[in-house]
Amino acid sequence: MKYKALRGTKDILPKEAALWQEIESVSRIIFRIFGYGEIRTPIIEETQLFIKSVGEDTDIVNKEMFSFTDRGERDIALRPEGTASIIRAYLESNLYKTAPFQRLYYMGPMFRAERPQAGRLRQFHQIGCEIIGSSNAAADAECVTLAARVLNACGISGYEIKLNNLGCREDKRKLSDLLKKTFQESGVQKQLCADCVRRSRANPMRLLDCKVESCRLIIRERFKKVDFLCDDCKAHFDSVIEYLNMLGIAFKTDPYIVRGLDYYTKTVFEITHPDLGSQSAIGAGGRYDDLVENMGGPSTGACGFALGTDRMIMVRGCADALTKEKALDVFVAALGDKALEKSFVVASSLRDSGIICVMDYENRSLKAQMRSADTLRAALVIIIGDDEITKNEVVIRDMDTKQQNNVPFDKLIAVTEDMLRQKGARQ
Ligand code: HAM
Repeated sequence: MKYKALRGTKDILPKEAALWQEIESVSRIIFRIFGYGEIRTPIIEETQLFIKSVGEDTDIVNKEMFSFTDRGERDIALRPEGTASIIRAYLESNLYKTAPFQRLYYMGPMFRAERPQAGRLRQFHQIGCEIIGSSNAAADAECVTLAARVLNACGISGYEIKLNNLGCREDKRKLSDLLKKTFQESGVQKQLCADCVRRSRANPMRLLDCKVESCRLIIRERFKKVDFLCDDCKAHFDSVIEYLNMLGIAFKTDPYIVRGLDYYTKTVFEITHPDLGSQSAIGAGGRYDDLVENMGGPSTGACGFALGTDRMIMVRGCADALTKEKALDVFVAALGDKALEKSFVVASSLRDSGIICVMDYENRSLKAQMRSADTLRAALVIIIGDDEITKNEVVIRDMDTKQQNNVPFDKLIAVTEDMLRQKGARQ
């Protein structure tokens, strides 16, 4: 094979695409029920946008960004996530002045140059949302609830929601200083992985969610949950928990959840699924109260989440798809050149009536065409040969009962529609 899809990217073929469509449209319905409007932002942005928002010392910016210099010597990046672009759009379109409270949802591809493995792609997809303009804990609880609702509506169960509070800017600084002090001792440093050694200087909070088992053990032993939250953040966390309890949303608190994006303040959450193996996060989110201001806007509370669509698909599995690939209503089998011309017109008029219909043009035997109809799971086969043309009729075969009827051309659409309705193939 001369050309292959790039490592960490994949094609979505029609069978799997049917499941993607289903997941996307179910998600859209849930977002609409919750009063969210869709936002679509460009896939390319200024690299600086992500450096300023996601953070200079994060893996995403440091190691994983697909960035390049364009012909105009501009630094451009393929978006590694959606939140930064949405806040840029919020500010650029003056929404912060005209309609500062926004509930927005999005779906689409994101890009991170990570080492590909099962569930980890370089082009992956997210379904996410942001509530901009509220600092209230009810908004955080709405995000967690909404993420769970989308997963449930897509037929995904067995996930676990883990919740933490990182505190406000000052609390985060306190926590970072404490971690720095604890883990910069040379004795400890020797026991940590290279990433953690770097993190202990540049971004100590990320020490808490290192995935290397030996680091996890050391870090958990040395760093017990300390009370670093200010009263306001403590009250906020309690309030989020209370709201989630009111709605009966199951979750666990976990002091080691930090997430890999610097913009988070206060609430962070992660949703994991046991079927996903080492890349177990099916979604994640949190509050980011400083981001709008850091990007040049007024002080604005905001929170959101993103679900990994590829991982949702992995959990759902294609075999027991929400709906199987849309089956075909009709396969038109043409026998001979003259019949092919007639069938071409018949297929077209069936489609004009909204009937899902295909035919092939290869003049194959009836047996071969019936085999295709079977593979495509056609409900009916319409057979047209010279004989039928002479008699001005067609043969309609019900693929389940194997019964065949002769139907005049001028009754074909009505009879087909009727048969499909009776079979439950059409509304
Ligand atoms: P994130 O935790 O970086 O958050 O990504 C969210 C989800 O995207 C992950 O839980 C995972 O399911 C999926 N994901 C991330 N990277 C990959 C990958 N390489 N391959 C496959 N799936 C992946 C964010 O992106 C934040 N913008 C979420 C957010 C929105 N926070 C507030 N608002």
